[in-house]
Amino acid sequence: MKVGLLFGGRSGEHEVSIISAQAIAGALQSGENQAKYEVIPVYIDKGGVWHSQDVSQEVLGTGKGIDPSETGNIWQFPPESAEIEIWFPILHGPNGEDGTIQGLLTLMQVPFVGSGVLGSAVGMDKIAMKTAFAEAGLPQVKYVAIFRDQVWSNPCIFPKLCDDIETTLDYPCFVKPANLGSSVGIAKVRSRSELESALDNAASYDRRIIVEAGLVARELECAVLGNDNPKASVIGEISFDTDFYDYETKYTAGLAQLHIPASLADTVTSQIQEMALQAFKAVDAAGLARVDFFYVEATGEVLINEINTLPGFTATSMYPQLWQATGITFPELVDKLIELAIIRHQENTSGS
Ligand SMILES: Nc1ncnc2c1ncn2[C@@H]1O[C@H](COP(=O)(O)OP(=O)(O)O)[C@@H](O)[C@H]1O
Ligand SMILES: [Mg+2]
Repeated sequence: MKVGLLFGGRSGEHEVSIISAQAIAGALQSGENQAKYEVIPVYIDKGGVWHSQDVSQEVLGTGKGIDPSETGNIWQFPPESAEIEIWFPILHGPNGEDGTIQGLLTLMQVPFVGSGVLGSAVGMDKIAMKTAFAEAGLPQVKYVAIFRDQVWSNPCIFPKLCDDIETTLDYPCFVKPANLGSSVGIAKVRSRSELESALDNAASYDRRIIVEAGLVARELECAVLGNDNPKASVIGEISFDTDFYDYETKYTAGLAQLHIPASLADTVTSQIQEMALQAFKAVDAAGLARVDFFYVEATGEVLINEINTLPGFTATSMYPQLWQATGITFPELVDKLIELAIIRHQENTSGS
């Protein structure tokens, strides 16, 4: 089976995507997978141009993206695309994890790994995601949804908005663009002036903004695998000495540590696993997702933070490591994801 490995992409997580793709390509060419799959890499540069198999293979080999091509045509698929029987998009963030690529692949009527348009879009937008979680009865941190035009409104309205945030949430609070990921544009604010500049900064990234009450909590993550009857993995924990899990902490080697499995009471573990499965269903995810939680040990509260429908997939990423610790190896995991994609495609197209 020819697997189109779609990687790179027009987001801040371009480089991570390349490393994830290297790991997945390796797993598809190892052990029993080798006889089953032929990998056709398709690299999308930062400008959005899709590259031929040769160029893509080179990027996969070197691990280094190429400068956006000035001549390429973003509407032109490489010729090899026509032969691809299943797509494995491993693109993170906007344009990859948000339903846009998923819509294109759906139109092409080919199976693809992961969530469809709805699950991807709802999982990406923090306001829509939180609305879906609230509807499912999942406990989460107190938050306020804000729109760019309120932030950039006339000077009489903005102070009122900040007053409301202070009254509802207090300090410290977190200001986040609704649709980015990798902690880009996120600020922890402790005063009125920090709040004002964080809102202005977030508004420069996104029309939709979320402000949350700041917690002191352990950060726990659970991997989910499956379609209609998904399974939850063991729980992992992330620890770090920095102020919060910001961009630098995420991508600088040595700043964050993963602990798998997290040291937790069995009751907390099963509560998180149950909540992860509910979250997966609440946004209509499929195939895979990583669901992230805050555990306020002092009160015993577990709050859902977010769902990631295309989590980091490098050899050292949390998602594959959680499955490894649960008994599914990396090559078995990618094989399973492809199987799930095919099942879902058959279900979606039967009867139409
Ligand atoms: N309400 C909060 N209280 C405490 N820490 C938070 C809160 N929201 C975010 N953080 C910190 O910021 C990090 C990134 O926030 P998150 O919402 O997960 O954004 P992203 O989608 O970019 O990963 C979290 O992992 C955590 O360290
Ligand atoms: Mg996060």
